[in-house]
Amino acid sequence: MVTAGSSSELIEVAEGRVRLFTYDLSRYRRLNGVYEPAWLPVFYNPAAVLSRDFSILVASTLDLRESIVLDALSGTGVRALRYCSEVSNISKCFANDIDTRAYELIVKNIALNNLQDRVEALNDDANVVMYKLKKSGVRVDLIDIDPYGSPAPFIRAASWGVRSGGYIGITSTDLASLSGVRPLTGSRRYWCSLTLTDVPRLIALHVLVGYAARVAAELDRYIEPLTYIIGGFFVRVFYRIRRGARKADSMLSKSMGYLKYCGVCGFREFSRQIEEIRCSMCGSRISYVGPLWIDGLVNQEYIEKARRSLAVYTYISSHNQLSKLFECQTTEIVDRPLAPYDIVQLSSRLKVSSPKIEKVVNCLKSLGCKTVRYCGVTTAIGTDCSYIDVISCVKQLTST
Ligand SMILES: C[S@@+](CC[C@H](N)C(=O)[O-])C[C@H]1O[C@@H](n2cnc3c(N)ncnc32)[C@H](O)[C@@H]1O
Repeated sequence: MVTAGSSSELIEVAEGRVRLFTYDLSRYRRLNGVYEPAWLPVFYNPAAVLSRDFSILVASTLDLRESIVLDALSGTGVRALRYCSEVSNISKCFANDIDTRAYELIVKNIALNNLQDRVEALNDDANVVMYKLKKSGVRVDLIDIDPYGSPAPFIRAASWGVRSGGYIGITSTDLASLSGVRPLTGSRRYWCSLTLTDVPRLIALHVLVGYAARVAAELDRYIEPLTYIIGGFFVRVFYRIRRGARKADSMLSKSMGYLKYCGVCGFREFSRQIEEIRCSMCGSRISYVGPLWIDGLVNQEYIEKARRSLAVYTYISSHNQLSKLFECQTTEIVDRPLAPYDIVQLSSRLKVSSPKIEKVVNCLKSLGCKTVRYCGVTTAIGTDCSYIDVISCVKQLTST
């Protein structure tokens, strides 16, 4: 008889260039038929391949040489195995998981891929591992944090444990908290005032990066975001982190601020400080979401490299999606805060049918405003035009 979690339940799957033993997801379904990866004895979600493919592509663009990677919450070991087999210039990967069954599976998967000399399994709390590696003088170049839910408990140790000039990749599936759907939980976890807006995914991204920036700054470090992805159930960001107290100060004053948001009329703009408490458009009480990151989220040098890397990674299953993402991100150069709008949401607020997003972008650009599309939310844009100008472009394009 097969008991839950017994190794006779294991099946072999392939992902990227690696093979994996994993528990058979088809046995772990909800009553409504939906698969539930979190019920597996060791977590593995085939649907998260997009996040892993993205991470491989990004890692291939980083300034790495004979590098060391820590996959701090590894599950089956899939990320560590993929980093070590698919990205050149990575010489060693640690695959850590606190769960003993996960650790045992990681050991099996390392052997399955013949990577015993380059991938090492660890079985400890991720925070302990990050502090211990640092204490023992291991220079970790890239730390990958891919937890259940919130990454907040791991960001401090990652910021401390990675070498100066190294990289951190963070996933959050904690979108309800980050985006203001559950504002109290979000405030508690990310030290941030939250309210639900009509651009929840974008707020989640800016709050997460802002939190990472403030944790780095506490440790006299500063961050430079490289790229991000917004998936169906997650956001993931990559950033570079370096030592420097003065630069941390400049980062906080240039890149951190608030989104002023009026839930009544929809007015919003980024501001560096909390200013007036009434909406300048309708006079209602205004909400401040923040502190959050109000600066750019992509670095063009890395995006260009990622686009070139796609020519090498033709085998990855998310090739088309990532190609579109990086192409979109080449247009996302931001040198000043751009207020986020979801054009479909705004149109519904204005009770008009939604115009084509590209047309709205062009209309705002023709007014001389910096305007970009937010990649990953197809209906979202960022602009430094006033709310009145955005409304007038939407209305004008609806009537044409
Ligand atoms: C979302 S899963 C990881 C999925 C994996 N990164 C992937 O791409 O398939 C989160 C993992 O973190 C592990 N975990 C939870 N708390 C941990 C901790 N404090 N330290 C290390 N691992 C932890 C869980 O056992 C679980 O395997």
